[in-house]
Parts: sequence; structure tokens; C-alpha cells
Amino acid sequence: MDSRVVLFLLLSTGFFLSGCDSPEADFRLDRVYIQKTLGEPENGEEVQALTTQLQNLKDVMVGLFGTPDDPHVPQLADVEVGEVLDPQLIRMAAGPVGRHEDGTPRGLYREHCAHCHGVSGDGAGPTAAFLNPYPRDYRMAKFKFKSTPLGVKPTHDDLRRILIDGIPGTAMPSFRLLADDEIDALAHYVKYLAIRGEVERRLVNLLTELDEGEPVLDPLVRREAADVFQEQLGMVRETVGMVVGQWENASAQVTEVPTPPEDWMSEESIRHGRDLFFGTVANCVKCHGQLALGDGETGDYDDWTKEIDDKNPALQAKEYLALGVQEPRILNPRPIQPRNLRAGIYRGGRRPVDLFLRVKNGIEGTPMPAAPATGLTSEDIWSIIAYVRSLPHEPMSKPEGHGIEYGRERL
Ligand code: HEC
Ligand code: HEC
Repeated sequence: MDSRVVLFLLLSTGFFLSGCDSPEADFRLDRVYIQKTLGEPENGEEVQALTTQLQNLKDVMVGLFGTPDDPHVPQLADVEVGEVLDPQLIRMAAGPVGRHEDGTPRGLYREHCAHCHGVSGDGAGPTAAFLNPYPRDYRMAKFKFKSTPLGVKPTHDDLRRILIDGIPGTAMPSFRLLADDEIDALAHYVKYLAIRGEVERRLVNLLTELDEGEPVLDPLVRREAADVFQEQLGMVRETVGMVVGQWENASAQVTEVPTPPEDWMSEESIRHGRDLFFGTVANCVKCHGQLALGDGETGDYDDWTKEIDDKNPALQAKEYLALGVQEPRILNPRPIQPRNLRAGIYRGGRRPVDLFLRVKNGIEGTPMPAAPATGLTSEDIWSIIAYVRSLPHEPMSKPEGHGIEYGRERL
């Protein structure tokens, strides 16, 4: 059998579950990332080595984070993990749907989210294939609609807000009707899945840094070479601390939104915003298109899709599918569409402050860039937003008497 097929079978058949027929829910390994990072095993020996490493990885992950039915919060000496991941709240969101003995709810995530986002938070629940955009895979720990700059995690309040408002124009519903502590519990559980996912990815990276044949995270090493085991355990702890630390620091890095100038919605400001929109500095026209219908540059992919294969996502996915791997599901790649700005639907919220954050900071994980740091002032950004907000009302043909020259004819 082709060794690649062996890898797929290993990764996809639950080979790594200690009890294969156990009914307990299980977190899936991040198969796409593992394959991309560790490559294909080329012979029986390599298959064997990889099998051992992945089994160890899985054990370490269970040791740190537990299972979907019995989640743990990793304990670290120097990081207040409980602040980022509240074990009590996580207990409400995790596990099968029902009640704890003390009457508090449990299983909120499986009740409300898993059919789209998947039990592992891989964005590949049973409903996912039918949705556009696909539900989010949290394991890359990138979030789009937040108050912090690119590369910084969202705050707890950012996640709460997404849950309360939903994401307009997508399948992501509003959970406004849930109790306040249930919203908190779900936000903590999203963080738990994102942190868990990112730690797993970083541990996979760690595997690539070891010398050939070095026994990684191997419990047997604990007995034979306690110092090696301690050293490796140290690396694991450092990784977890680093990832949790990023979430801890997010609220200190919230982007300050300046008050808009009084005349920011004036005709003059809109005209200025329009010039910038079509100009070379902001260059919004490049992607959003001459008519702002989202029909500029449209062949790009978001970061989640790019992971499937940098060069040719469509081809790579077909290969996966050809292997007959149904679970974990690989979603067919779809190019990302720049937003149609004439529709007046804003996923991250329609308040001026929401639009300011989108234009100033860009949208994480997508081609939508942050506004250039030089060449655009905050006033300029407010003018651009005024123009964006006027677009649903701007006539598609040359706006007679509008006083604004139409972009298409100028270019
Ligand atoms: C019907 C399908 C569906 C359900 C149910 C659902 N989601 Fe989503 N969710 C989505 C989709 C689709 C997106 C991606 C939107 C996008 O990328 O613009 C998303 C995105 C998200 C995001 C990312 C927000 C960001 O800023 O990037 C979070 C967090 C999230 N969902 C949490 C949840 C939680 C928690 C639940 C359960 C309480 C839930 N979702 C239930 C479909 C769903
Ligand atoms: C390189 C391509 C690119 C450029 C340049 C670009 N955008 Fe975008 N923009 C996108 C994509 C792609 C999305 C959709 C992201 C997503 O999936 O949520 C988007 C989304 C948006 C949204 C929707 C926000 C929401 O909450 O739904 C707004 C508003 C927007 N862009 C405005 C602008 C403005 C104003 C500029 C110029 C300053 C600009 N964009 C430049 C690609 C681009």
C-alpha cells in the first residue's frame, strides 16, 4: 500500500484512539497541518516512526487539554491560565447535552455550535459543506471581527459580541436569547478550542525541530532518560504558556477608535473618501472593483483554504477526496469574495466604529489588508467609511446632479 494512503488511514480511522470502540467523543488531530508540516512517510520505517510520534502527540494533548467530554485546563506555574480559560464555564459548554448533577447546563457547544463548527472546532461539522462561507475552523486561532490589530487575538468581549450579534450575511446565527453566563461559557469554550488547536500545531512544529530518530514526547523516555523527558516537557509547557499569554495580553492591545470629525458624513468628506477609495494609497478599488460590487481581484483564498495547499488548493483537495477520506472532512476550496459594498451588509457590524476597525486593521485571515500606516490619517479613514456607507445609495450609472464624478469614467 502507498505509504501516503497509510498515513491517511492512520489519521482518519481513529487508529490513535486508545480504545477504538469507545463511545467517548474525541478530538481529531489536525490532519491537513500535520501532513503539510511533517510530509509524507516514504517507507515502512517512517510510517512506524510517525505513528509513534503522533500517538505521543495525541497523549500529550489529552494530558494537557483532556477530551471533549472531560476537558482540562492546563496547569502552568507562571501563567494564570484560569483567567483566560475559566474551568467552571468550560464545564458548562463541554460534553454531551444535558445537566450537571448540580443543575447547571452542560453541552452548550454541542447543542448550538458543533453541527457547524465540529466537535474539534475544525469548522467541519456535518452542516459545513452546505454553507458559504464555511463555518470557522478555530484551530488556527485567527479571528476576523475583533477590536485588536492583525496578529493579536480577539478579546473576550469581541467573542461575546460575535455570539450575541451573529455574523450578518453568513450562516453564523445570533445567540442573543441565551443567558449571559451561557454566552460567557461558549466564548471560553471557543478560546479553549482555539488554544488547544494552536498548541497542537506548535507541537507539530516542534517535532520538525528534533534530530532524526530523537524520541519525541515519548513516555518511555521518562524512565530511560529523565533529563530528555524533562527538557521536552519544558518545551511543551513553554509553548502552552506562550499561546495562553497571547490571549491574556489581547485586551491591552485594543485599537483606539478616534471620534470622527463633526462633518465626516458631509458631501465633501464623502467625495474625499471616494477619491481615496479609487486612489493608489488606499486602493480599495483593486479588490472591491470599479463598481464596488466585490468584483475586483477575486481569485484569492483565505488563510484557512490556503492551508490545504499554497499552490493549488483545488488540486490538493481532489487528491484528498480521491483517497476516499470522508472523515475528517475536507471542504472543497472556494476563492474568497471581496465584499459587495453596495449590499450594505457588514459581517463585523454596521456601526461606524465597526467599519473603522475593519478598514484600519484589515480582516485577519483574509486578503483584506490593514490601512497603510502612512499616507492615510484617521480623518481619511472616516471619509472612506462615509463613502462606503453611501455606496448602497449611490446610483450605479453616472449619478446626475450628485456632484461626484463617477469612478469608472475617471479611470
Ligand atoms: C449554522 C452554522 C453555524 C452555527 C450553528 C454556528 N456558527 Fe459560528 N460561524 C459560522 C460561519 C459560517 C462562520 C464564518 C463567518 C465568516 O467567516 O465570515 C462562523 C464564525 C464564527 C466565529 C468567528 C468570528 C470571527 O470573528 O472570526 C466564532 C467565534 C463562532 N462562529 C462561534 C460560534 C459559536 C460559539 C457557536 C455556537 C454557540 C456558533 N458559532 C454556531 C456558522 C455557524
Ligand atoms: C487585497 C484585497 C482588498 C483590498 C485592497 C481591500 N479589501 Fe476590503 N475586503 C476584501 C475581502 C476579501 C473582504 C472580505 C473578507 C471576509 O471574508 O470577511 C473585504 C471586506 C471588506 C469590508 C466588509 C467588512 C464587514 O464587516 O463585512 C469592507 C467595509 C471593506 N472590505 C472595505 C475596504 C476598504 C474601504 C478598502 C480600502 C481602504 C478595502 N476594503 C481594501 C479585500 C480587500
